[in-house]
Amino acid sequence: MFIACSDFGTNPKEEENLGEISYKSDIQPMLNATCINCHGNKGGLSISTYSNLMKGTSNNGPVVIVNDGAGSLIVRKLQGVASGSRMPPEPLNKWSESKIETIKMWIDQGAKNN
Ligand code: HEC
Repeated sequence: MFIACSDFGTNPKEEENLGEISYKSDIQPMLNATCINCHGNKGGLSISTYSNLMKGTSNNGPVVIVNDGAGSLIVRKLQGVASGSRMPPEPLNKWSESKIETIKMWIDQGAKNN
């Protein structure tokens, strides 16, 4: 009886994913870890801040299309289905499906600065 409630909170990550994705705590840290070495402020596409990401100063226009994760260039580059190289480029590893899905969901949720 009264064995501890060890089932609660054993999978916080999964619970989090059911809710709203946060730009600040979910998205920017992933971009910082893999992308901003090349997409910082060296010219070309910068994704170092929310406003830069949304501005999408790229050769091909905006990289985020609000509410259209699947159609957004950033997601298509991560999946490797857009023209040019997959992002991040070889020899860096392709992002896991769950990371790509997180970006996609955030865009589908309105790409908020949250
Ligand atoms: C080693 C350097 C490097 C890294 C790391 C890198 N990129 Fe890139 N990225 C490039 C280069 C070079 C291009 C332009 C050539 C191309 O589109 O294939 C590019 C193009 C892009 C484009 C298209 C921009 C346009 O002008 O149309 C997007 C979107 C993008 N990268 C997103 C990302 C994301 C997201 C990450 C992190 C997961 C990332 N990149 C990591 C070098 C990099």
